[in-house]
Amino acid sequence: MKIVIIKGSPHKNGSSNMLADQFIKGAEEKGHKIIELDAAHMDIHPCIGCDYCGMNGECSQKDDIANIRDALLSSDMAVFVTPVYYFGMSAQLKMVIDRFYSYTMKLSSKHIKTALITAAWDSNDDVMPYIAEHYKKLCRYMHFKDMGMVLGTGCGTPSMTAGSIHMEEAYRLGRSV
Ligand SMILES: Cc1cc2nc3c(=O)[nH]c(=O)nc-3n(C[C@H](O)[C@H](O)[C@H](O)COP(=O)(O)O)c2cc1C
Repeated sequence: MKIVIIKGSPHKNGSSNMLADQFIKGAEEKGHKIIELDAAHMDIHPCIGCDYCGMNGECSQKDDIANIRDALLSSDMAVFVTPVYYFGMSAQLKMVIDRFYSYTMKLSSKHIKTALITAAWDSNDDVMPYIAEHYKKLCRYMHFKDMGMVLGTGCGTPSMTAGSIHMEEAYRLGRSV
């Protein structure tokens, strides 16, 4: 499979990207082709709701979202990678999701596989349900086939993450797809 990894953390070597690296290691061992796109360091702007695209056409904004769109439309699987910010995804990743708007039909008709990888500081039960529900709803709406989630509680810094069980979990998810 061709798998596109979409990263939404401002920390290039931060916790969510560490977990993503473990997923990539597992997936590459299984022979999958990985494309990494660091959305947090690309020129991407929020959807401005102008409706120029009519939800199925050219976007009025010319930025790096075209690279992400092309990668998603030519991949078998997407992995969304994000730190938890106020119980949701980062704004950097949310911009990517909102910009699906101009190619929602094209993308949803592909029925691609997806996964979610997140990192949060806290380790209690009330950190991850909200981002997980949002992701699951997105999967239902976009006809994505969810392959799994790595909900990295207690992953507040790279050293916390390095010692967490979620590293192995992310690796196993990569091996399993
Ligand atoms: C703006 C902001 C909001 C945050 N919100 C939460 C939160 O709601 N729950 C939590 O446990 N950690 C929260 N954190 C901590 C980060 O999720 C955590 O440090 C994570 O490891 C960062 O991942 P990264 O290194 O991949 O960017 C927040 C951090 C920032 C900067």
